[in-house]
Amino acid sequence: MKSAVYPGSFDPFTTGHLDVLKHAYGLFDTVYIGVLHNRSKNCVFPSDERRAMIEQVLHAEGLTNVRVCTFDGLLVDFMKQVDASYIIRGLRTTGDYLYEAEIASVNKHLMPEAQTVYFAADPRLAFISSGIVREIASFGGDIDGLVPAPIRKIIAERLIKR
Ligand code: PNS
Repeated sequence: MKSAVYPGSFDPFTTGHLDVLKHAYGLFDTVYIGVLHNRSKNCVFPSDERRAMIEQVLHAEGLTNVRVCTFDGLLVDFMKQVDASYIIRGLRTTGDYLYEAEIASVNKHLMPEAQTVYFAADPRLAFISSGIVREIASFGGDIDGLVPAPIRKIIAERLIKR
């Protein structure tokens, strides 16, 4: 059994995240999306809500071998819990690479069998980030195409009210 974790804040889950997930989907028996529940990171959406939104997207997309969990603490501990040794991450820019190389090294130090697998972002989606979605939606801008359709309304409504 080849299992992978796809960890992140997902605040909120974007079309870019979904694209990475779809590429990883066929390569692993099970993908565990790990939604970081981190009190020190000021997320707009509570972790349970982020998880529920992702589950809604998975259902709509028919991605059946993906489980969504929230986790706290170290990623490697979450990986041990679900018995996964691969970490999925998306790469958009060279800036991403510097950050990603650092966290991959930390994870490898903590868990030598951990392998980080990168997926290059579709160039048409490479500008999308959760932060950009929050920024546009907070001013009432159109986030069509930036987040998966089933969760667009809830994200837009929540962010404009802030
Ligand atoms: O989507 P993000 O916010 O860039 O994801 C970052 C994430 C969740 C992958 C990273 O912060 C993480 O793994 N946090 C858990 C704590 C941990 O394991 N730290 C050591 C590796 S950086």
